[in-house]
Amino acid sequence: MLSFSHMTVADVRTRYLDFFAKRGHAVIPSAPIVPENDPTTLFTSSGMQPLVPYLLGQPHPEGARLVDSQMSFRAEDIEEVGDNRHTTFFEMLGNWSLGDYFKQEQLPWFFEFLTSGEEGLGLDPAKLYVTVFGGDEESGMAADSESVEIWKKLFGEKGINAAFVELGTEEHGNEVGMQGGRIFSYGARKNWWSRAGVPAKMPAGEIGGPDSEMFYDFGLPHDPAFGPECHPNCDCGRFVEIGNSVFMQFIKQDDGTFKELPKKNVDFGGGLERLTAATRDDADIFLTDVFDAARTVLETRSGKAYTRLNLVEKDGADTRSFRIILDHMRAASFMLASGIRPANSEQGYVLRRLIRRSIREADKLGIKDAVLAEVAEGCGAAYAEAYPFVQAAARAIREELEKEEAQFRKTLANGMRQFEKIQWMGVPDEALPSNNQTAAIAGHVEKVLPSNIVFELYTTYGFPVEMTEEIAKERGAIINKEEVAEKMKEHQVLSRAGAAQKFAGGLADQAEQTVRYHTAHHLLLKALQIVLGSDVHQRGSNITSERLRIDFSYGAKMTDEQKTTVEKIVNEKIAAALPVIRTDMKKEEAEKLGAEHEFGASYPDIVSVYSVGPLDNAFSIEFCGGPHVSNTSELGADGRHFKILKEEASSAGVRRIKAVLQ
Ligand code: ALA
Repeated sequence: MLSFSHMTVADVRTRYLDFFAKRGHAVIPSAPIVPENDPTTLFTSSGMQPLVPYLLGQPHPEGARLVDSQMSFRAEDIEEVGDNRHTTFFEMLGNWSLGDYFKQEQLPWFFEFLTSGEEGLGLDPAKLYVTVFGGDEESGMAADSESVEIWKKLFGEKGINAAFVELGTEEHGNEVGMQGGRIFSYGARKNWWSRAGVPAKMPAGEIGGPDSEMFYDFGLPHDPAFGPECHPNCDCGRFVEIGNSVFMQFIKQDDGTFKELPKKNVDFGGGLERLTAATRDDADIFLTDVFDAARTVLETRSGKAYTRLNLVEKDGADTRSFRIILDHMRAASFMLASGIRPANSEQGYVLRRLIRRSIREADKLGIKDAVLAEVAEGCGAAYAEAYPFVQAAARAIREELEKEEAQFRKTLANGMRQFEKIQWMGVPDEALPSNNQTAAIAGHVEKVLPSNIVFELYTTYGFPVEMTEEIAKERGAIINKEEVAEKMKEHQVLSRAGAAQKFAGGLADQAEQTVRYHTAHHLLLKALQIVLGSDVHQRGSNITSERLRIDFSYGAKMTDEQKTTVEKIVNEKIAAALPVIRTDMKKEEAEKLGAEHEFGASYPDIVSVYSVGPLDNAFSIEFCGGPHVSNTSELGADGRHFKILKEEASSAGVRRIKAVLQ
């Protein structure tokens, strides 16, 4: 009988990296949590995101086998937080084959990692269940029978006779149940992975493939609220997904058909915290060591105990509050340490939402004085070794949280009081937002919170709209999101219209114009250094197909003359038709060349640099993964010129420029 290994998050991370390093994988550092060159998404939300260019076929400087643990943030999961296994921030363990090994190596290796007591996690194989791709009629993709055979053999070697069951859909799964199976096949909704979802939803140029997922059976009783029977993809909480091997082998064509990629890749992703929970045989990831210090702070300050509820509880309100604060403060610590500040748009808005929601939850727990900074300190301490940059930013984290908490606590109670005064509007009627109609018809919703109140709660009391929506929901009401968004836009409160789409994750926009702006960004940074001095460095960037934006270190407002000179330099370099060249080299070499790098970012031993002009006579050299145009003349296509639209303060000692090619 196996005994449970009770590992820490750090143990699991180290074991995983070592396991794959021993099998020829280069260990690469986590990319930053804010994507560097991907304007369509606010946060890095999976391990594959920073590696897309390499999955598309570009050679990776570290080779064809990589392993990492990627900091990830999924804003779309905010509302799920509160149960025992969902978080917004998490680490995704990843191992990658860039056209090297495939299914025959990947599945046995990960199974060995899960089950080996020596090198891996020592999990009991009898508690593991797997799923495979059962085919997709719409796109004509065939079922993955090869993986079924591999899994049968692997379980067989452990003395487990693994029966294969075709479940097709989750609904079907909930109807028929396990049927004594160990390997299950589902359709594209569950066992096909691309950033856009099922094959039909993928845009041209997007990559994806069938996947095989692994689940750990925590042995909890099935909750019939999720359907009559349980099965691996049931959401009741008995089975938790601990790994996903994506066989990234297709690219969608312009005509909607699929082509095999030049190289077949493996994109494996596994939730580090969930794997750690499996080693403890306890489904509650908030009981893993990284939350210990922060949890203790909350227990002490609230005088309440964090109750161990392993079921997806309906009434564990305090436990839910604990979990929301723990998750949100860990995420906020990483964001603040990455340079994000609470704001009313984009990443800063998400951060503010996390902070304000946590304050409300702390208030619910009976904590009436500032507590978040103390909780965050506990989070930073838990990552002192793995991510020292979080603790290094301890002061800024504390100051920002204290500021935000002091401010919001002033208005929270008054804002909450507004809910008691509300004249609720009845539903259903035409005013009901279309996305909520079904709920209303089904009789779950009886009232709508008037949009002017949602608006007032935001502007006067600082209630993020989503928080108001959540409070409304607790009172059996909904909000009219479309109407609220209209109102916000009208009053120019909402400068995040574009950001709303980004919350969903989104695709890298490699459109021609975006790539041009990326190269223009390099030219601009260098021109700024020439005009304002070599102390100018990039502090942030955001590129869309409409414009580029750069934040850079500089203490004063630029004069008109300086701006004109910068524009002139960039336009000269466009006219000079300089080649843009990518070179892979040792990090030290790149540093010797004076290549510009992102403040606070960590880089692997081998890096790729982009030079405008040949390396030995370059106008600009930057550490960068691309993509870029191949010649600066492309920026001048259709007679375009580089123009600075705006130069303004961004924060203390940091200026912001928005510029276009027009
Ligand atoms: N890219 C895969 C995922 O995010 C591994 O699940």
